Amino acid sequence: MKITFIGAGNMGGAMAHGLYQTDMFRPEDITCTARSQATLDKCLKLMPGIHVATNNREAVRNADIVVFAVKPWLIEGVIQEVKNALDYSKQIILSVVAGYTTEKLQTLLEREGHPTPAVFYMIPNTAIDVKASMTFFVPSNASDEQIQLIQGMMEKVGGCMQIEEKNMPACMALASCGIAYAFRYIRAAMEGGVEMGLYAKDAKKIVSHTIRGAAEMILQHDSHPEEEIDHVTTPGGLTIKGLNAMEENGFTNAVIKGLKAGR
Ligand SMILES: NC(=O)c1ccc[n+]([C@@H]2O[C@H](COP(=O)([O-])OP(=O)(O)OC[C@H]3O[C@@H](n4cnc5c(N)ncnc54)[C@H](OP(=O)(O)O)[C@@H]3O)[C@@H](O)[C@H]2O)c1
Repeated sequence: MKITFIGAGNMGGAMAHGLYQTDMFRPEDITCTARSQATLDKCLKLMPGIHVATNNREAVRNADIVVFAVKPWLIEGVIQEVKNALDYSKQIILSVVAGYTTEKLQTLLEREGHPTPAVFYMIPNTAIDVKASMTFFVPSNASDEQIQLIQGMMEKVGGCMQIEEKNMPACMALASCGIAYAFRYIRAAMEGGVEMGLYAKDAKKIVSHTIRGAAEMILQHDSHPEEEIDHVTTPGGLTIKGLNAMEENGFTNAVIKGLKAGR
């Protein structure tokens, strides 16, 4: 199975690196393209053995999966550049370009006399770099086998969910913007830890493992957060005082307003 990334920046590069660390691809099965040699050198340093190129048309030729990961204002030009080199009868096309719906992608890819390609509008988050992404995708004209293949591939690098296209903005708010909100919580808790006398590096380790533990518990127990909170809050104890003080200062409201503002 061969995969080509057109654009190997923050997202394309992270996605390539995540998949590089799985058993699904050998290094030589991965090709990354970019405009600058500097980006390609960075890719090679991080992922020895992969192919890199600046010629997008050449890079897509033997790929089974082609991933478009350029900035939104570049996607139309890049698709125009490569589409005649694509084989819609067997290649799967993924785009991680935010806002480019399956309808827009299919319109851009349209070619007279060629079949409609299997296209996936997909949004991972940057944690794909460490195989801990939350990825959403919307398939268009894909067979069940192709959907299973892509779902299986993305499950090797984190959680993955097929969604209805109308829910993409909400899912992006929770996961792709959401990872920044999680980082901001980590920073806020670190600042609290430092104010209480901890070194920042110690606070960072404590908060990061605490967040990871909370997420693992929810995922493994399939529980509701409030159920897990109940196990921590002794009546009249410290934790409930802390939670109530956070709520008094608008914690839940701030999170919901932030999510909706970033939709
Ligand atoms: N960052 C995220 O969290 C995130 C999450 C989900 C989706 N996305 C989507 O991912 C896409 C890329 O975002 P990004 O943050 O990764 O941007 P980025 O860091 O700027 O990466 C874009 C890459 O595209 C390359 N590129 C530009 N023009 C090209 C061309 N004609 N041919 C081949 N490569 C070309 C750039 O090469 P050079 O490095 O040489 O300039 C760069 O490596 C966006 O559409 C965004 O909506 C991002």
